[in-house]
Amino acid sequence: MVDVEKEARLKKKALSFGQQHIFRFWDELNDRQKQQLLNQIETINFDLMVILKEKYLKQSKSSLASSDLEPTDIIPIPTTAQQIARAEQAKLVGEQLLKKGKVGAILVAGGQGTRLGFDGPKGKFLAGPISRKSLFQLHAEKIKAIGQKYQTIIPWFIMTSETNHQETLEFFNDHKHFGLNAADVIFFTQSMIPAIDEQGRFFLDEKHHIFCNPNGHGGTIYALRDNGCLTEMKRRGIEELFYFQVDNVLIKICDPIFLGYHHQAQAEMSSKVVRKTDPEEKVGVIGKINGKLTVIEYSDLPQSAMEARDETGQLKYHSGSIAIHAIRRDFIERLTDRDFSLPYHVAHKAIPYIDEMGNYIEPDSPNGYKFEMFIFDALPYASNSVVMEVARQDEFSPIKDADGKNSPATAEQDLMNYFGRMLQRAGVSVVFDHNNNLSGKLEISSLFALDVAELKQKLPPNFRFDGEMYFAPEQ
Ligand code: UTP
Repeated sequence: MVDVEKEARLKKKALSFGQQHIFRFWDELNDRQKQQLLNQIETINFDLMVILKEKYLKQSKSSLASSDLEPTDIIPIPTTAQQIARAEQAKLVGEQLLKKGKVGAILVAGGQGTRLGFDGPKGKFLAGPISRKSLFQLHAEKIKAIGQKYQTIIPWFIMTSETNHQETLEFFNDHKHFGLNAADVIFFTQSMIPAIDEQGRFFLDEKHHIFCNPNGHGGTIYALRDNGCLTEMKRRGIEELFYFQVDNVLIKICDPIFLGYHHQAQAEMSSKVVRKTDPEEKVGVIGKINGKLTVIEYSDLPQSAMEARDETGQLKYHSGSIAIHAIRRDFIERLTDRDFSLPYHVAHKAIPYIDEMGNYIEPDSPNGYKFEMFIFDALPYASNSVVMEVARQDEFSPIKDADGKNSPATAEQDLMNYFGRMLQRAGVSVVFDHNNNLSGKLEISSLFALDVAELKQKLPPNFRFDGEMYFAPEQ
């Protein structure tokens, strides 16, 4: 039975916000569909949608002046004896945090992976070059291996969204959480937000459903609060969080050096960056705007700043953001404790909808606006931050598109090259071609060896790489 009080209240609300069309097909719906629509409407923050329409659709984008910008200090990839000693020191600090069980991992996996065009949560994508293990499994095994190495438990918080929550949960259940203790894998769901047309009206994508998209990876901080994860972290004694995204096959989860630097500096939120070599590369750069650390989106960076070089000929703004962060738990508590809102980013997109006649339309060109929050917009609010440069070939290779630069093919090659360098450093002869691509196929399970030292120990005596090898622990 439909709750008539709720129906009347929400119809009135929709009317007062000019959204009465969402009830257009009401009389055709069965009770279950009516209830679903009412439940969805109840989750929508109508006031926020008005603000978004007024603020983001009407205002022209303020353009940044080069004079407002300055580069930020970074911790470089260590080359000198002093830098190496500092990194070793940081590593000890990070390892202590891990051993004492003070670190949790946050994976954001609520996105829709539209560019990849893969049917299902992106974490189910099979990315192991030989094993064909899924991204979720590759990450899970790293977490398990780190736990074993430091004799610790790393609780793993995985953010999903309504679009993929059920399927993600089933995948983990079907695979027995990939050997992790189910109690230490905590799923939480981010909020959804409606898209709007030029007039600020919602789209129906079914007669009983409003088109909504996940509210961006910035939604993590609110979702952690609203799902009780911050309380759970506190209960477990977690102080530091390692944040990563589902599609980076080279991710060094809970890197102790990074965690150590971040903790030593008493930073609230820190970032890893890679060096941008091509001024036109479409990545956000970390720099300072009016003294505040910020990720400056590619499209916002003035051309003169994009091309500017320092006295050594290097790009002045070279710190490419790779969406890897260390975040203090109490920083998220502090932000979400008060009336704090991350800004929204708006994207003009083609949004499927049901027209007035009830036909399902998939437009070819943009007809509406989607809104998302980005996690890096929390950076300017952090009282301290560390920005650490890492080698791209060792730590960053995301699967974004079906083909081209950040695709399954490049990720697979990057992974095999990484394993090839590990094997080489462990003393085995391997061949790389003129593009620095490994000749042959190679995969090393994190459960076999997490690093070169472990690999060295476990390599069979007189091991020779004959062109294809998968190192995995014996079952
Ligand atoms: P991307 O911005 O690359 O988006 O997300 P995506 O959903 O993976 O792919 P496209 O843009 O639709 O092609 C980077 C990371 O942030 C997560 C994604 O799951 C991915 O790990 N994310 C993104 C969320 O968790 N929630 C969101 O609302 C958006």
